[in-house]
Amino acid sequence: MVRASKIRGGNTPATMAVELAPSILSANFARLGEDAQAALEGGGSLLHVDIMDGHFVPNITIGPPVVASLRKAIPDAIFDCHLMIENPDEFIPAFAEAGANWIAVHQEACVHLHRTLQLIESHGCKPAVVLNPATPVHMVDEVLEMVHHVLVMSVNPGFGGQKFIPGALHKIKTLAEVRAELGLSYRIEVDGGVALDTVGDVVRAGADLLVAGNAVFGRGDIRENARKLLQAARSAAFTHV
Ligand code: DX5
Ligand code: ZN
Repeated sequence: MVRASKIRGGNTPATMAVELAPSILSANFARLGEDAQAALEGGGSLLHVDIMDGHFVPNITIGPPVVASLRKAIPDAIFDCHLMIENPDEFIPAFAEAGANWIAVHQEACVHLHRTLQLIESHGCKPAVVLNPATPVHMVDEVLEMVHHVLVMSVNPGFGGQKFIPGALHKIKTLAEVRAELGLSYRIEVDGGVALDTVGDVVRAGADLLVAGNAVFGRGDIRENARKLLQAARSAAFTHV
């Protein structure tokens, strides 16, 4: 595997807290503000916002106006915007303007990934890159120094409530090893099928940002679902070696 040549200091997995990023994709969109607020009160420390265009993925969700409305309803939360769209460069300014804090683009959607990450940063947002299940980690080796986080998809993007793909675990482990080896500081996020039965494995593999949609908003009490999931994640982090 190609490694970045420059070695510099940074966080190691042991110093990174595990955080829950509730994915509003599974919220009730007729009461989006209330559902999102409940997930934050249950222990979510940011909101994961899934943007789909019906081209890059076979589903359509929301655009900048909804992000802007959510920003008005929840002024202080970090919005972690996951762009599952073609031509992301055309929409990055609008999402930044709408209130995104972090913007993640798919490696598979970006011909000029380095330039796109620079564009995100130039709009005052933290840049991140996403890997589909079929994309190996080494495809993003050259941009690891410039990203705030790497998002490992553990389902094929497009829908909530899918089954976790275990192949994501070795990619999370590789990213954690490379981060320690190179002294980098990117965070490792996992997205798809994260629930009480899978969260231990993803945390022990080295993920520290846990996206969860169905497990938080699917059924039952949103606050309680978030609280239990975060508790399970933190218990697993305690056993992280
Ligand atoms: C899928 C989205 C995910 C989705 C995860 O394309 O990127 O963020 O909300 O949903 P769950 O947690 O239900 O698998
Ligand atoms: Zn997502």
